[in-house]
Amino acid sequence: MHYLLIFFLILTCTYAKTPYELGKKLYIQKGCYSCHGHKAEGILAYPALANRAKGYMTYKLKRFRSKLSDNQQQEMMITFAVNLSDNDIDNLTTFFTEFVDEESEERYDDSFQVSGDGGS
Ligand code: HEC
Repeated sequence: MHYLLIFFLILTCTYAKTPYELGKKLYIQKGCYSCHGHKAEGILAYPALANRAKGYMTYKLKRFRSKLSDNQQQEMMITFAVNLSDNDIDNLTTFFTEFVDEESEERYDDSFQVSGDGGS
């Protein structure tokens, strides 16, 4: 299972072309997923980024890149934003805005059934 995941990761990283794919590649390469989640769904105090407004995400990333933050919590973003180019930010925010959960079809398959009486 893990081999398969790694295989697809490498495949995505090697053949990425569209802004969405480039953004996804950056998201993995720069380690953004370690705080914001593999599906950009957010983890605890780290905000979800999936399907959020491109304009606002761009505004925030450019602010962090200029070393501006509104509170101590946000300061940790500065390290991750300082080296992003305008192009990187454009690709990343396209990835966020257009994010599609590629596994969801599998996870919410109709054929899934709970065994037993459903645990009433
Ligand atoms: C070490 C953890 C960490 C990593 C890694 C990280 N972030 Fe963040 N990110 C945060 C925190 C903390 C905030 C601010 C949360 C708040 O405003 O309270 C944040 C906020 C953001 C926001 C603004 C969200 C909002 O709702 O205002 C964006 C966009 C973002 N991060 C993108 C990224 C990108 C792109 C990367 C990778 C280059 C990344 N982050 C890597 C912790 C992280």
